[in-house]
Amino acid sequence: MNLFSPLKLRQLSLKNRIVVSPMQQYSAINGVPGNWHMVHLGSRAVGGAGLIMTECTAIEPEGLATLSDVGIWNDEQKDAWKKIVEFVHDQDAKIGIQLWHSGGKGSLKHPNERMKPLTKDQGGWTLKSSSPTEMNGIIPQELSIDEIQKLKVKFADAALRAVEAGFDTVELHAGHGYLFHQFYSASINKRLDEYGGSLENRIRFLVETVVEVRRVLPDGMPLLVRISAVDYLETADAWTLEDSIVLAKILKENGVDLITASGGGFANVSKDRVFPNYQVPFASTIKQQTAIATGAVGMITEAMQANSIIANDEADLVFIAREHLRDPYFALHAAKDLEIETEIPWQYKRAF
Ligand SMILES: Cc1cc2nc3c(=O)[nH]c(=O)nc-3n(C[C@H](O)[C@H](O)[C@H](O)COP(=O)(O)O)c2cc1C
Repeated sequence: MNLFSPLKLRQLSLKNRIVVSPMQQYSAINGVPGNWHMVHLGSRAVGGAGLIMTECTAIEPEGLATLSDVGIWNDEQKDAWKKIVEFVHDQDAKIGIQLWHSGGKGSLKHPNERMKPLTKDQGGWTLKSSSPTEMNGIIPQELSIDEIQKLKVKFADAALRAVEAGFDTVELHAGHGYLFHQFYSASINKRLDEYGGSLENRIRFLVETVVEVRRVLPDGMPLLVRISAVDYLETADAWTLEDSIVLAKILKENGVDLITASGGGFANVSKDRVFPNYQVPFASTIKQQTAIATGAVGMITEAMQANSIIANDEADLVFIAREHLRDPYFALHAAKDLEIETEIPWQYKRAF
């Protein structure tokens, strides 16, 4: 097995194991993906990756982090995604959408304005989360049980729109300190009802959403979930890899096909913990312990490195983020480096 071995997840066939990892572009207006997104995602499809993931895509306006993030809560957004999906398909690549709610980590200015909190007259909104636990200096309000039920429906509605737009797969973003993570990590979730307390209660919102989303997805379409496998916190209430193994088993039983094992989201990760392959052990441990397919992510930048993760069966997919910003043609270059034949877009054949 190598980086260019095909992979089948349910009825979805990927031509190789290289994924363009989700990357926020902060370039949308009213949540609608535009020309930037077409070129950004489209050129990486031209560049040979088997699966292109959209950036985190909000399921309602309050799920955005900034007003420049993308969404899929209305038909204008769905129609704009459809054009991008069609272009990616024309390049013989597959495309997945990452559905997301920022919870208590929203209502922020653009990164070019250092992501300071938005005021009401700048379009800011009231933040809600599992609990009123401070995040980035702001204390969100606690979501009511009724609001939690409505959010599950909104995730399912967004997933249905994604299917209608032609996406090949859906990934729930349940990591990086966003809403699902704010529920399953006891460092944030202090609720006393059935959505807080025990691990079983804290993962309930994610698991119930998985069930709702799975219900609207065609049987042949895989469902992916990105988690933070660890919180990278030293506190006693931090989420751990052992917790992730329990979660992965339950997600698998409820129809999830692949877990991408990322990490962190509530605090800066110290530099000495970030090095090539630093999160690969999360993907390989979850894969070994639960037999679910996994995606590895984090500081994977070279063809040989990515190839050994697959060849050693440490993960089923490699998600490559920043290297794809440096080199949209990472996959085509990797095939050359590894001396593996792959299809080159006919327009570019004279260069490869
Ligand atoms: C500009 C940028 C935006 C990102 N946006 C997202 C996102 O929308 N969703 C997500 O799950 N991760 C996001 N990430 C994290 C990446 O997907 C990836 O997990 C992380 O960058 C580590 O991989 P790398 O070392 O290959 O860059 C983002 C990373 C970058 C650099």
